[in-house]
Amino acid sequence: MNTPHLSVLYKEIIHALQPRSGGRYVDGTLGAGGHARGIMEASAPDGQLLGLDVDPQALAIARRTLAPYEHRIHLVQASYTSLSHHLAELGWSEVDGILLDLGASSMQFDTPERGFSFMQDAPLDMRFGPHVSMSAADIVNSYSERELADLIYEYGEDRDSRKIARAIVKARPLHTTRELVAAIESASPRRGDRMHPATQTFQALRIAVNEELTSIQEVLPQAVASLNVGGRLAVISFHSLEDRIVKEFFREQSKDLVNPPYEQLYEVERKAVIKEVHRKPITPSDEEIKNNPRARSAKLRIAEKL
Ligand SMILES: C[S@@+](CC[C@H](N)C(=O)[O-])C[C@H]1O[C@@H](n2cnc3c(N)ncnc32)[C@H](O)[C@@H]1O
Repeated sequence: MNTPHLSVLYKEIIHALQPRSGGRYVDGTLGAGGHARGIMEASAPDGQLLGLDVDPQALAIARRTLAPYEHRIHLVQASYTSLSHHLAELGWSEVDGILLDLGASSMQFDTPERGFSFMQDAPLDMRFGPHVSMSAADIVNSYSERELADLIYEYGEDRDSRKIARAIVKARPLHTTRELVAAIESASPRRGDRMHPATQTFQALRIAVNEELTSIQEVLPQAVASLNVGGRLAVISFHSLEDRIVKEFFREQSKDLVNPPYEQLYEVERKAVIKEVHRKPITPSDEEIKNNPRARSAKLRIAEKL
């Protein structure tokens, strides 16, 4: 069986990007290379792919997954925020499809020593790649109580942020996920069968460590600028903070920009650059969620260059 069933919204991504022979594609978040393999299969015999990931372990696995297509792929250990640079290096002025499957991979969550999971004891790391300067331990041990509370509130949307920040500061220094979970539980105990109280703080730290939200803001304009007319950008997000950025960017780029917008006689300053392929985001089927519970919060938005 060749289909990498754990790549979220796999069929929907292939359908969205409509890969064809001779086309040029980018996977900005290669992970294990599941979606990328689908793109290579669908664009045989001549489609090409630029694949990026900041995580050397992911890249090594993707290289193996994509070995049969070696002569048609360019894999680089780099952030998608440097997309324009890497396209220029290849001499690709425009591409036909770009995929961003945001966040952490199952491989990263399931490797305890990476420190992404609050279920396993490990050093507080959470860096996607070696280029990231501050680990989660650096943040929890050096931020002020106020900065930690703001971070947990903004990126974790946790209403207990102040209590949790106070408990973290009191328990410092913290070196392991278990120590952090204990501090969080002391401030925000488990309530029935609701989500684990550490869920949101772990999300917040991961976003902060990897500057995930600013990275999305940086890549979207580069991605749209790099597409051929008719080319498509597909973005899978896993929580509302990510999805909001994608949604607002797509809305803004799919409108004519008029100046000044409130006068009768207005000039169109910039025509719409993209159109949204679907008004609402695509979400996984019940069957996909049953097979892969981590897919449950995924939302796919697709834009087409005008
Ligand atoms: C959800 S996984 C992708 C899974 C992949 N689509 C598949 O089918 O296997 C997200 C990947 O994006 C990578 N990543 C996160 N931020 C990145 C960035 N700024 N630039 C490049 N890769 C990034 C992570 O290291 C992770 O491997």
